Amino acid sequence: MSFPQHRPRRLRSTPALRRMVAEYRVHPSELILPAFIREGLTEPSPILSMPGVVQHTTDSLRRAAAEAVQRGVGGIMLFGIPEHRDATGSAGIDPDGVLNRAIADVRAEVGDALVVMSDVCLDEFTDHGHCGVLAEDGSVDNDETLALYAQMAVAQANAGAHVLGPSGMMDGQVAVIRQALDEAGHRDTVVLAYAAKYASAFYGPFREAVDSQLTGDRRTYQMDAANRREAILEVELDIEEGADMVMVKPAMSYLDILADVAAMSPVPVAAYQISGEYAMIEAAAANGWIDRRRAIEESVLGIKRAGAQMILTYWASELALWLDESHS
Ligand code: PBG
Repeated sequence: MSFPQHRPRRLRSTPALRRMVAEYRVHPSELILPAFIREGLTEPSPILSMPGVVQHTTDSLRRAAAEAVQRGVGGIMLFGIPEHRDATGSAGIDPDGVLNRAIADVRAEVGDALVVMSDVCLDEFTDHGHCGVLAEDGSVDNDETLALYAQMAVAQANAGAHVLGPSGMMDGQVAVIRQALDEAGHRDTVVLAYAAKYASAFYGPFREAVDSQLTGDRRTYQMDAANRREAILEVELDIEEGADMVMVKPAMSYLDILADVAAMSPVPVAAYQISGEYAMIEAAAANGWIDRRRAIEESVLGIKRAGAQMILTYWASELALWLDESHS
């Protein structure tokens, strides 16, 4: 009886062998921690649908940023929740607005030790919860919104953000932001475009995280889950418009898109493991239905393997700690 010469199990026989032949590994520097700051809080406020994630105060945000630095995390992506909202999201542009102040605070805390990123989008700041301003018929007005994104981007760059993440899916947003940044002298501010962002049910917990005012959905501007080819067009347009990095979002239900984008993109590719992906794993683990740590590690490794060079995940700091343990 002859056996084939290749017996793949040979390379799986010890942890050291498995580690040595591993094709992919996640490094803390590739992880980006999304974080929420809420104006007017005196204590961090738990987000019930994202156990372990909070809306931060200024102090707790600074501590979370310092912890991320200590653990070797690559970056932090900031979202702000203002006390007052209006039709045009003016608190997002105000230099004294909660997000712009948080950017400056975090920069003061971490300097250049952590890549400080911020969300360029109006949905947290508008009283209707849409990512742009509304036309008279109630639709989201693309070009009126672009002018506001340009101002918001400059305000965030002035506050000290290293990287801006336009996430509103307005056509032409990257070009307008790039031009505004250059004109304001922010030539080195990086644009990470949410290029292929899908309208997803998995954003559910994020709505609680930012106290979203949205009724309805974002299907007239975010991509349709049925479309694969269109993601390439979105990425090509954003790169033409000057995006320094591109993102696919969500991650786990869109690994095919991520692989497609990774295969064609000449610029670094990020993926965002979003709130609902976090919530699903935490909920199953809390019920004892899956092994929490293994599920988290496997999910992030899957995103890496599909082609993400950078991964936004609410587990960034915890995962970085585990990665550190497993290397030592
Ligand atoms: C828009 C934005 C959203 C998320 C990141 N940026 C919400 C949306 O598009 O509905 C979702 C992130 C998550 O679900 O973790 N500002």
